[in-house]
This record gives sequence, structure tokens and C-alpha cells, in this order.
Amino acid sequence: MPPVNVNGTLRTVTAPQDKPLLWVLREDLGFRGTKYGCGASQCGACRVLVNGESTPSCAITLGEVADATVVTVEGLSGADGALSPVQQAWIDEQVPQCGFCQPGFLVAVTALLDRVPNPSDAEIDDAITNICRCGTYPRIRRAIHRAAAARSQA
Ligand code: FES
Ligand code: FES
Repeated sequence: MPPVNVNGTLRTVTAPQDKPLLWVLREDLGFRGTKYGCGASQCGACRVLVNGESTPSCAITLGEVADATVVTVEGLSGADGALSPVQQAWIDEQVPQCGFCQPGFLVAVTALLDRVPNPSDAEIDDAITNICRCGTYPRIRRAIHRAAAARSQA
């Protein structure tokens, strides 16, 4: 059973190869930041980076990430614990309400800014399809612009 690269560390998992990555992360590896919302690729709460792409971890199996690099919300900060510009912007804009959906947003936005460093509102709306039942969308949009500006100055 090949190890899986999660947050920069190779981890050996003895779970079945068809187990959804979401549950491998939460149950087998203890990364509970990745959340279960719908289980059907709709809500975005479970999103992680797979080879840099924002991916719903409820819809991909352990076997499918055997040769991939997986980054969860816990892996977005630096090795020294420094917050990423996206994480810092989330704090500065006081984005979360209940917080449940936010890890998925942080992951999806990180992937967006890696691809489109300074997205327009239309590009944000097109790319970020995660669902927030608390309706934090206006703060999320502000935080994305703030993070984009911070990254451009880094
Ligand atoms: S739990 Fe995976 S997209 Fe909703
Ligand atoms: S902050 Fe509550 S669901 Fe998004």
C-alpha cells in the first residue's frame, strides 16, 4: 500500500483503497479541519488541494491519491506556523461566522490565487462555488481581494 503525501509528509494508511479521502484525512490521519457537508461534490466543505487543484475530498478515494500531493487546510500555513496571506486576510476581515464551511473556502481560494493572482469579482464568483449557510460571501470576497494584494507585495 503506497504512502500518501499529506501536508508534506509521507503517511502510510491501512484503510481500504476505495475509502473517500475525506474520511481518510479525518479518521485515519486526524486532519479534522476538512469537513463533511454534503458528500456529493456540492458544498465545498471538504475541499483539499490535490496536486495544487482544489478538489472535493468526498469525491476522490485513497487509491486515487496514491501518487499525488495532498494539502489540507492545516497545511496552508508555513512550516514555522506563519499564516498564509489567505488565512491572514480571513482574520483581518473577520470572515467566519459558525466557521464550518471556512476550511473549504480557504483551500479553494488558495488554489484560485495560485492560478489567478488578482481575480475580478466575476472570476471569484465563477471559481468559488463553495456554499456558506451563514452567508459570509461579502466578507469572503473582501478577504480574497485583501489576500491578493498581500500576495502581490510579498
Ligand atoms: S462534503 Fe464534499 S463537496 Fe460537500
Ligand atoms: S460560516 Fe457558517 S456555514 Fe459558512
